[in-house]
Amino acid sequence: MPKMEWDASFSVNDDEIDAQHKTWIGTLNTLHDSMISDEVEDTGKVIAASLEAMISYTRFHFKFEEEYMRKINYPDLAEHLKLHENFIARICNYDNDMRNGNVVLGTRTIKIMQEWLTEHILIEDKKYALFASREEH
Ligand SMILES: [Fe+2]
Ligand SMILES: [Fe+2]
Repeated sequence: MPKMEWDASFSVNDDEIDAQHKTWIGTLNTLHDSMISDEVEDTGKVIAASLEAMISYTRFHFKFEEEYMRKINYPDLAEHLKLHENFIARICNYDNDMRNGNVVLGTRTIKIMQEWLTEHILIEDKKYALFASREEH
C-alpha cells in the first residue's frame, strides 16, 4: 500500500495548517510503518504507541483548526466539528479494540484512515479555505 503524501493540491492557503497537515500525514505514515515492520520485537507495543501519537496529533490539529475557523467566522463550523468528532471517536475505537485485544490493527484500517484524511482535507478543509479567500477581498 503506497504511503500518503502531501502535495500542493492539499493546500488550504495557510502555512501553519499546511504544515500541520504534512505532520499529520507523516504521523499516519509512521503508524503504517510500525505495522508492516518485522524488525521490531514488540510490534503490538510499537503500533499502540504510534496509534497514540496519531490520536494525540489529530486532537491537537483539530483544536487548532477549529480555533482558526472561529477566527474567520466560518459559517459551517458546526458541521465541520461533527466530522472531527466522528473521526476522533473512530480512532479511539481502534485504540480500545486494540487494548481489549479484540482486533489487531491492520493495513485495511490504515487505508480507511488514509482515505478519510485525503477526503477531509481535499473536500472539507478546502471549504473553509475557499471561504477565507473570499472574505479577504
Ligand atoms: Fe485539517
Ligand atoms: Fe478539518
